[in-house]
Amino acid sequence: MLNSPEVEFMKIAQFSDTHMLVPGADHSAALLRADWLRETVADINGQRPDAVIFTGDTTQTGHPEEYAVLFEILATLNAPLYVIPGNRDDKDALRRGCGDREHLWQSDQYFHYVIEDLDVRLIGIDSTDHGERMGVFCSERQIWLDAVLREGRDRPTLLFIHHPPFDVDDHYVGGYRRADEAVALTDIIGRNSQVKGLLCGHVHCPVNREWNGTRAVVTPSIAVDLRKGVDENDAKEQPIYMLHEMSGAAELTSQLRVVGAKM
Ligand SMILES: [Fe+2]
Repeated sequence: MLNSPEVEFMKIAQFSDTHMLVPGADHSAALLRADWLRETVADINGQRPDAVIFTGDTTQTGHPEEYAVLFEILATLNAPLYVIPGNRDDKDALRRGCGDREHLWQSDQYFHYVIEDLDVRLIGIDSTDHGERMGVFCSERQIWLDAVLREGRDRPTLLFIHHPPFDVDDHYVGGYRRADEAVALTDIIGRNSQVKGLLCGHVHCPVNREWNGTRAVVTPSIAVDLRKGVDENDAKEQPIYMLHEMSGAAELTSQLRVVGAKM
């Protein structure tokens, strides 16, 4: 299956921006955000995905106690988890908390990696630098992504990254520290038709649209108190994540899932 453009069937859950807090700092928000993540993990387990992608901002400040709460809850997830950092993460703490997972050590310098052993090739991209709120995609990362995509032109591929390299209404405009870095990412993706989707977080609101010859998806924040662009009458203050499916000719379909909704 690995060298075929056909994909048997693959279901991937994506969630983002949990912004875990230390209990006591803002007690009610800390408890709520932990509950929202717990409910999300239970709901994802019920969906039985083949893989789970977590597109960053796992904690609010990168404090070790925030990571302790986070990883205690993530330990109940039944599917393989692939996480990348957001601008609020401490990358070393995130790596350590993920435990002994080989793919996290493909690069010492960047929190990026390629997953080769699934029907769909997964590439996690690091768009963060310490102390930088905006997206970063420096020349070294550009060279790396260009090279790994060249190695797998015949493999249906999903990319995931915290910062979208495109604007999202007036919520998010010019989100990279240098416009040419967002353009470079866009150009690399545009040259690789095997990229079936770019999955993002950061903006806290939903996006699912054709973009640059592929699909661009942003999943809302699991932290309901930080969420934007969702009709709260429909969501009823429940967390929301994204369910992706790929099959046949490997086209990506993605839909929002409200945690606790009937199947
Ligand atoms: Fe965030």
